[in-house]
Amino acid sequence: MGLLIGESSGRRSGYRRPWLRWLGWVILGLLFAGFARQCTSLYLNNSSLQPVGPLKGPLSGLPRVTETCRPHTHLMFLKTHKTASSTVLNILYRFGEEHGLRFALPMGYMLGYPFAFNVHRIKGYRGNRAAKYDIMANHLRFNKDEVQKVLHKDTFYFSILREPLSLAKSSFAYFHDICPTFRKAGSLGAFADSPGSFHKAHLRNSHYARNLLWFDFGMDPNANVTQEQVREGLVTIRKNFKLILLSEYFDQSMVLLRHALCWPLDAVVSFTLNKAHYRPPQGGAEDGFDLRQPVVNVSLTPAQREKLREWNALDWHLYQAFNRSFWEDVRHFGPERMDQEVALLRARRDQLAGVCLPKAGEPVEAHHIGNKDIRPYQCGSVRILGYELQQGLDNATTEACLRLIRPEIQYKDLLDAKQFPRSQPYIGDPAGKLDVNGLSQSVLKLPFTADGNPESPVSKYTQGQKDA
Ligand SMILES: *[C@@H]1O[C@H](CO)[C@@H](O)[C@H](O)[C@H]1NC(C)=O
Ligand SMILES: *[C@@H]1O[C@H](CO)[C@@H](O)[C@H](O)[C@H]1NC(C)=O
Ligand SMILES: *[C@@H]1O[C@H](CO)[C@@H](O)[C@H](O)[C@H]1NC(C)=O
Ligand SMILES: *[C@@H]1O[C@H](CO)[C@@H](O)[C@H](O)[C@H]1NC(C)=O
Ligand SMILES: *[C@@H]1O[C@H](CO)[C@@H](O)[C@H](O)[C@H]1NC(C)=O
Ligand SMILES: *[C@@H]1O[C@H](CO)[C@@H](O)[C@H](O)[C@H]1NC(C)=O
Repeated sequence: MGLLIGESSGRRSGYRRPWLRWLGWVILGLLFAGFARQCTSLYLNNSSLQPVGPLKGPLSGLPRVTETCRPHTHLMFLKTHKTASSTVLNILYRFGEEHGLRFALPMGYMLGYPFAFNVHRIKGYRGNRAAKYDIMANHLRFNKDEVQKVLHKDTFYFSILREPLSLAKSSFAYFHDICPTFRKAGSLGAFADSPGSFHKAHLRNSHYARNLLWFDFGMDPNANVTQEQVREGLVTIRKNFKLILLSEYFDQSMVLLRHALCWPLDAVVSFTLNKAHYRPPQGGAEDGFDLRQPVVNVSLTPAQREKLREWNALDWHLYQAFNRSFWEDVRHFGPERMDQEVALLRARRDQLAGVCLPKAGEPVEAHHIGNKDIRPYQCGSVRILGYELQQGLDNATTEACLRLIRPEIQYKDLLDAKQFPRSQPYIGDPAGKLDVNGLSQSVLKLPFTADGNPESPVSKYTQGQKDA
């Protein structure tokens, strides 16, 4: 079943008066003229506490290498699910692309997930003695022994967590159609009432229903919750990962990250990618999208919240522990300094949004995005929002802006084409994907049909799981 979102655009245009639109164009034109004078292209600066000045010059280089701070270029990001990790991935893709770093790319879009990572899932892998990879960041289930085989010794490992209840909601809405546990339960409330009665841990994709973070870190999500078990898990994670970020405090996380990596501010400025837009439960008139699609009910009573928290107790402990560490890190960093840097980061984000994005920078629904190269992939009963690109920018600015808004599927394709110039017949041509003959299409490999409409994600997704 497709999302049938194409139909709403017609309804949408009805409420705009022609003179209003005309006025809009005039204002846009004036705004654009202002920008055009100010900035021929984006200048992404190195320093942290500079006031945000006018934009000029090319995209950032590495910050100066100093004795105390040398930019990290060897990175392992454990991309957890439903945690804003796509936005972090964008940051890594951009940085890697700008600096010509070598990615451990998957053959499809995930490195063997949900199976424990194995080096043979890396596209073009040529054995342990071949050159190491600089960045590994696509979805995988963590497996230290295999991961470290292909990464440099000084690789910086980090990841991101999200509060488990909101993660459960997001996971339920996003994976409802492919996770047998969720599908059987129907609503998140029903699931929370007696999760055990719906959960068959051995079924494919059931892992999305319980302790998903714990699972992604390579540990057993159905383990009995004992102090010993929790402690052991936390110790292992602390041993393997240098930094654990939190989606709830994304901007603070980016500040910590940039200092840990010795990266310029602009390297960690981003727009939220893969953001979900939930359908309203009653399917009201809200901007006129199709109402025939069944709505996934994720509302919970306080009692159900408590039960769900218990069901995800391993993740709960994980989050609690790293939430504490996170704020210790912030104290160590200096709360005032943190506030300053967060303000700077936000100002810079607003500034870049003003340059790159039309319409005040609000993310829009996929079907409003004309350019397929930047239209986000859709999955499940939530709609994933994306960004339109401002028209009329010069080439360098266009390129810089595209990097910021390019969805992860298309970005992976682009990097893939760069790293494997001969194996990839096209760049940014979703229709062309249909002609990739014989390639076993891994998960999300065919996000759009030839006419550009998102097609049913479910069959592709489950098929990908099989391939993985
Ligand atoms: C940033 O670059 C300027 C020159 O563009 C330089 O003077 C300054 O030292 C740099 N700052 C850092 C933190 O590297
Ligand atoms: C970049 O940093 C330099 C000094 O390090 C400063 O003079 C300049 O104004 C800054 N530019 C921007 C765009 O912040
Ligand atoms: C959604 O689920 C909650 C909790 O299970 C329930 O109380 C509510 O009636 C449901 N809402 C709809 C619209 O089905
Ligand atoms: C959890 O504990 C129960 C009872 O103590 C035991 O039967 C079960 O095997 C344990 N499960 C795991 C995964 O250790
Ligand atoms: C995380 O820690 C902060 C600071 O101690 C606290 O305010 C917040 O409630 C914690 N979040 C959760 C979900 O426990
Ligand atoms: C911008 O890019 C287009 C095509 O990608 C090219 O034809 C044009 O010459 C470029 N302009 C500049 C100023 O580089």
